[in-house]
Amino acid sequence: MTQIPFDSLVAGRPIEIDVDGKPVCLTRVGDEAFAVSNVCTHSYAELSEGDVKDFVIECWLHGAEFDLRTGAALSLPATEALETFLVERDGNELTISQKSKEI
Ligand code: FES
Repeated sequence: MTQIPFDSLVAGRPIEIDVDGKPVCLTRVGDEAFAVSNVCTHSYAELSEGDVKDFVIECWLHGAEFDLRTGAALSLPATEALETFLVERDGNELTISQKSKEI
């Protein structure tokens, strides 16, 4: 798990963080923040370098779009969803952690 102050995030400007050794893209949208894998499922590109519009992030390399809330791939060339991470907010403190695997 990783902790970061909410007010260090700029809306629409994702950053890369490390969560238990995994590269994660953390994005503020309004008063919420969302965490997805920072590696595009199409090929290797860092999503934290992409553009954000509302709840959608666009990969800078070939333009695939993903829903930050669910990780779902919304447009080609990506077809696989991104892994999503749990984001909990307590005041100004965000805690980002891996979701426990369901059995
Ligand atoms: S690497 Fe992201 S769309 Fe191709």
